Amino acid sequence: MYDIGVAITGTGFMGPAHTEALRRLGVRIVGILGSSPEKSRRFADAHGIAKAYTNFDEILADDEVQAVHITTPNRWHFATAKAALLAGKHVLCEKPLTMNSRESAELVELAQSVKLAAGVNYNYRFYPTSLEARARVRTGKIGEVLSVFGNYVQDWLLYPTDYNWRVLASEGGRLRAVADIGTHWMDLVQTITGLEIEEVFADLRTVFPTRYRPQGEVETFSAKTATHQETDAIPIETEDMGAVLLRFKNGARGALWVSQLTAGRKNSLRYEIAGAQDAIWFDGERPNELWIGHRNQPNEHLFKDASLMDAAVGRYIDYPGGHNEGYPDSFKMCFRAFYDYIAAGDFDATPFFPTFEEGHREILLCEAILRSHDEQRWAKVEG
Ligand SMILES: NC(=O)c1ccc[n+]([C@@H]2O[C@H](COP(=O)([O-])OP(=O)(O)OC[C@H]3O[C@@H](n4cnc5c(N)ncnc54)[C@H](O)[C@@H]3O)[C@@H](O)[C@H]2O)c1
Repeated sequence: MYDIGVAITGTGFMGPAHTEALRRLGVRIVGILGSSPEKSRRFADAHGIAKAYTNFDEILADDEVQAVHITTPNRWHFATAKAALLAGKHVLCEKPLTMNSRESAELVELAQSVKLAAGVNYNYRFYPTSLEARARVRTGKIGEVLSVFGNYVQDWLLYPTDYNWRVLASEGGRLRAVADIGTHWMDLVQTITGLEIEEVFADLRTVFPTRYRPQGEVETFSAKTATHQETDAIPIETEDMGAVLLRFKNGARGALWVSQLTAGRKNSLRYEIAGAQDAIWFDGERPNELWIGHRNQPNEHLFKDASLMDAAVGRYIDYPGGHNEGYPDSFKMCFRAFYDYIAAGDFDATPFFPTFEEGHREILLCEAILRSHDEQRWAKVEG
């Protein structure tokens, strides 16, 4: 249990995911804010939350709230996070942190000056198998990292009639597939290896320059089950897919393929990290398993089990070997790292949760990818 009160903004896909994870951790949810008073009330009633806010100022003024979770579309993140920090509240923001690096740089500076916890929900870091990969790579068990490759692919935007706010640059930013899902992959491999990506070469494609928007609001992943009738044709500038070549700080080379148009791949995040001695392979649709490749002995297949893994990973495993932990658990564990940090009370300590600095760096990375694509040449990541 943590002695802290939380307010959540956003009631779509992520609102319930945060609600459930916080509850499983024993964090008190004080209130919820949706895009209208009716949506706040409906969500509060459905989830047994006491307060349904009618606007964000009510959260800022609420003394029962010490932390704010932001699960609204990207364009709201900056203003919400800034106001919450200025009001003395810790912030756990959904990714990407902001729409551009000017905003994210400002938030990094603000978070440092107010000495509050400021995190970005790169929850995929918290699969125990990826934490184990991190422990192995960072302690040199696979040798110097030589190459990193992988993909993040989905199929939920395969048809031009598939629509979500993310396809609009004004709501999510000009980069879509790369910023929405590719950043999870890039955050993950950089965290595991401890190596920053320094240069990128990107080739992106918008397969559907026009999409058909159903009238009314459309929440994430709802298209396949929705029964919309009337649509409006909408011009699209954001990419559906793309390849990015990567150069890491130590000279390691890498490649990432991202697409939201790969039939049958629902949420496929995979990485392979090859070192001078061993290699590691992870498939996010089988997150309890880690493949460890050897050259001179049989390969290993490690199943999530705290007793077989690095001691530090144990804090982020709640069930014994053979009892799978998955996507919702990764939220719980990311939030555990966040609330452990707040409970410890030392805001000069290095956090284990993904920080605003790391969220800012992902934005710089996205800007380099876009620059590289636009100019069709290698681009350095600034900062
Ligand atoms: N970490 C992850 O695995 C993950 C997964 C999906 C989405 N996300 C991120 O979470 C955020 C939300 O995505 P989603 O998929 O839940 O979107 P969504 O469209 O399903 O939900 C967004 C919700 O925010 C509400 N909203 C819009 N403007 C608002 C405002 N000003 N105040 C309060 N509520 C408002 C909408 O009514 C909607 O209910 C995005 O930033 C996205 O990138 C993260």
